[in-house]
Amino acid sequence: MDSNPEKPHVVCMSCPAQGHLTPMLKLAKLLHFRGFYITFVNTHFNHKRLLKSGAISSLDSLPDFSFESIPDGLPPSDEDATQDVRSLCDSIPKNCLPPFRNLITKLNGPSSPTPKVSCIVSDGIMSFTLDATKELRIPEVLFWTPSACGFMGYLHYQHLTERGIFPLKDARDLTNGYLDTPIDWIPGMKNVRLRDLPTFLRTLDPKDIMFNFANREAQRSSMGSAIILNTFDEFERSVLDAMASMLPPIYTIGPLSLLSRQITTGPLTSISSNLWKEDTTCLEWLQGREPRSVVYVSYGSITVMTNEQLIEFAWGLANSKHDFLWVIRPDLVKGDTVVLPQEFLDETKERGLLASWCPQEAVLSHPSIGVFLTHSGWNSMLESICGGVPMISWPFFAEQQTNCRYACTEWGIGMEIDNNVKRGDVEKLVREMMEGEKGKEMRRRAVEWKESAIRATQPGGSSFQNFDRLVREALL
Ligand code: UDX
Repeated sequence: MDSNPEKPHVVCMSCPAQGHLTPMLKLAKLLHFRGFYITFVNTHFNHKRLLKSGAISSLDSLPDFSFESIPDGLPPSDEDATQDVRSLCDSIPKNCLPPFRNLITKLNGPSSPTPKVSCIVSDGIMSFTLDATKELRIPEVLFWTPSACGFMGYLHYQHLTERGIFPLKDARDLTNGYLDTPIDWIPGMKNVRLRDLPTFLRTLDPKDIMFNFANREAQRSSMGSAIILNTFDEFERSVLDAMASMLPPIYTIGPLSLLSRQITTGPLTSISSNLWKEDTTCLEWLQGREPRSVVYVSYGSITVMTNEQLIEFAWGLANSKHDFLWVIRPDLVKGDTVVLPQEFLDETKERGLLASWCPQEAVLSHPSIGVFLTHSGWNSMLESICGGVPMISWPFFAEQQTNCRYACTEWGIGMEIDNNVKRGDVEKLVREMMEGEKGKEMRRRAVEWKESAIRATQPGGSSFQNFDRLVREALL
């Protein structure tokens, strides 16, 4: 059935990674709810994964919402694993523009059943879209899905080069304390060290793909007509204030997981963004547990570790004697299958549950969860705040180190585990969070942030109003 040709039509170009796809789909649903026709664009690879996991099975029955996909330029790979991030960052800017341009031309062609494309909302790190929209004269808004503090770090990559900090001069700088150098020249950011900035600077190679990709994408963000961020003003005020003069208008509309709760019915409630099949049995398991008694452990969609590190986490959890729900993705252990000691499995079978992918938002909002041991991906952190749950952070890469630093020093809701994880530290931090005074205080702060996030996303709140302004000022 053809749509109303008068409807405004937003094309959402999502980045092929779980932590980017999830907030983009939430935004797309909100825009659809506000009366937009939506075309949601994935890469072929992720589109196939969404179909396989059952996340988007009811495609035909979605009025005014369609999915499209474009190639990412990479050879086929295992469909149950996250693609290699470095290869993606190399391939996307080289290969995605022509198919994207063709798609928009098709959508605007005479035989297209959709309304004319009125605006593009593209992930901030898929900025090849800017070249198409400039040529086709379509307005474009960029959605940067990480924290504002992380984004601010990327915006200053160029300054790292100019100040001679990037590339590092000596491999020993990674271990000799050099990364502890205070960084006091980024506006709006205080109390940060070189090690707290997004990790791609940690290289001696001036041509490093990740650093140069992130730097280029950050520099290009000022070419959009507006910037969307999944955060809320009270949470990141000083960085946001400083950023305002550096970029086009910024619309802070987060946490999107709260803002999108206004959509409670309709066909779009049946689609999700899970790239892995969700196992919901953990919710029943949580049901039988005492309030705040369970440690939830998950490392997002990209983190990998060695089996030795996994075993340190395992014994740390076991020795803490607390209940735990632990998500172990099939591709979590680098180049290998996960092997947990039988002794650990026997010892924890009454109080530990393992899952390969769970409904994390629902888990973190469950009253039984006491603490979240996380890699500090931005979505995970926001979801934890929405549940009022404090965090133990084991940051892996990108701006997760920045998020972790802010959780520990600014927001008062986190403690960090050393990168070289040891079972004794895991046990100690879990106990401190679950039983100690510090943990109690962090929970109190997490609940305060939860209340603040709820206020921001309710009618009259900053994110609620900003979403309204975004629609009126940038998308219509
Ligand atoms: C990361 C981070 O967003 C960011 O730090 C960085 O820029 C690169 O991408 P990811 O590592 O996947 O993404 O972490 P996160 O942002 O926390 O996103 C993971 C998402 O997967 C969350 O929305 C979480 O709810 C979901 N998830 C995770 C599940 O639904 N089930 C699970 O079992 C585990």
